[in-house]
Amino acid sequence: MKDENEAGMNRTGMAMALREGRVQEGNAWKNVPASPGDERELERMRAAYEGESEPIGSVPSPASLKGLAKTALQMLEGHDPKAFIDRLGERLAFERSGIRLYELLIGKHRAAQSPTGEADLENLIRIRNQELAHFRLLWDSLEKLGADPTAETPAADHAGVKTMGLIQTLSDPRSTFYQGLDAILIAELADNEGWRMLVELAEGMGLKEMAAAFRQANAQEGMHLEQIRKWWEGLVREEAGLAEAITA
Ligand SMILES: [Fe+2]
Ligand SMILES: [Fe+2]
Repeated sequence: MKDENEAGMNRTGMAMALREGRVQEGNAWKNVPASPGDERELERMRAAYEGESEPIGSVPSPASLKGLAKTALQMLEGHDPKAFIDRLGERLAFERSGIRLYELLIGKHRAAQSPTGEADLENLIRIRNQELAHFRLLWDSLEKLGADPTAETPAADHAGVKTMGLIQTLSDPRSTFYQGLDAILIAELADNEGWRMLVELAEGMGLKEMAAAFRQANAQEGMHLEQIRKWWEGLVREEAGLAEAITA
């Protein structure tokens, strides 16, 4: 069984070879190129690239304004549906990644190669299914607004890049169940903020039905976070040899 805290042959620290470490420290500054300027030069160069580059994609206009349901169109009048569509696209991408993250975590639980603490498969599968339901809710909401759910909006692209590290750590065969939970905790924190914002946006745009459905998804995200945090804390305490949380 894997244990990420097991003492092993870790040779990455300088304390492994003190004398060589000191020599290396002394060498660190020897080969620094003597070019003029300081780190601000890098910042200036990045700023130049930023000035020249295009934005990360664009939000497609609803297939046609005719595609917008009449009521939705009235509601959105005076607001910018594109900003809302971009946020919906972001959540859609993030929830899709969420499903993948849970599937990977379920796989780790089933493989039972590292401690799983109090986490149980039944609840993990339930949360995964709720993430899937959230994905479908977003898909339907985009369609109701006359938008194309298959379009990658800028925020959707951004969401995909952000979750890459989480997917990577969970799909790493060496990572433990705890490390998977730790990655999912980040996703759930973001989920909670994301849905909270969507509720606010839908409410602000007068889309009452949508806001109610989003509020329900947000409530489920709250429960996900609570559950994941509990399992995560339990495993940290177990590994550290600490008793149950005092303020349970
Ligand atoms: Fe979700
Ligand atoms: Fe969630």
